[in-house]
Amino acid sequence: MQIFHTITSLQNFLKSQRLLGHSVGFVPTMGALHQGHLSLIETSKSQNDLTVCSIFVNPTQFNNPHDLAVYPRTLEADCEMLESVGCDVVFAPSAEEMYPTLPNLKFDFGDLERVMEGQFRPGHFNGVGIVVSKLFNIVQPDAAYFGQKDLQQCAVINRLVKDLSFSLKLNICPTLREKDGLAMSSRNRNLSPEQRLNAPAIYKALQGASGILKSGESSEKAKSFVSKQLSAVDGIELEYFEISNFDTLQPIDEYLEGKTALCIAAFMGKTRLIDNVII
Ligand code: PAF
Repeated sequence: MQIFHTITSLQNFLKSQRLLGHSVGFVPTMGALHQGHLSLIETSKSQNDLTVCSIFVNPTQFNNPHDLAVYPRTLEADCEMLESVGCDVVFAPSAEEMYPTLPNLKFDFGDLERVMEGQFRPGHFNGVGIVVSKLFNIVQPDAAYFGQKDLQQCAVINRLVKDLSFSLKLNICPTLREKDGLAMSSRNRNLSPEQRLNAPAIYKALQGASGILKSGESSEKAKSFVSKQLSAVDGIELEYFEISNFDTLQPIDEYLEGKTALCIAAFMGKTRLIDNVII
């Protein structure tokens, strides 16, 4: 596995690979890798000649300085995990390498970012749009892989790829869960043992709400169920629960079979977790 810290060295290497006719799959990450990331790498490996994983904690997408400060940084362990699944290339640039000057560029994803993460984390998707565009330009992958856990991010990146005509295939891969249902996330390692014990309540609430909607009951009932369920669990503070149209991510009042996304964001202490199911 090759590790590059500069854009030029990575690009020189990738140029030589493309001359050999090798296709490139790309998994952008912020490190603190878990099995969910590794499954994206494995999918990319099964579909491409070469897989590149970027590890960069992108400062422009954090609206909360505390969240950026405590975001886990575990490059050495990440590289070991990547090596164990046969990742070919790691790109781990410094902030100075990625942002010699901070871009003034502003992305506005319209209605897509007026809800949920965009509403509660102002500027977040601008930062995601900037860094993902830069990474796509640097790596020029044939295919890129993202996890469904970040559903709204997937929708924003899908839009970005279309609007800026990136010539790549976007792949959205299923959320991986721990045995108790908790969605895998780099942030899980910031949970205390007690918080970790209680965190699966988030997925349980999503499952409960999906049962309510599928049995024909109202969205109000599903919402009040989620709010009651989570307020009964020690240390969970619900930020939002949305019932949304899966395509547009706009709130809906009734269940559309196969097209309904249930999305949650909740705090456990200072750790913010998100999760979703499509029903
Ligand atoms: O999902 C993430 O880890 C990040 O938002 C991404 C896509 C790597 C951009 O920094």
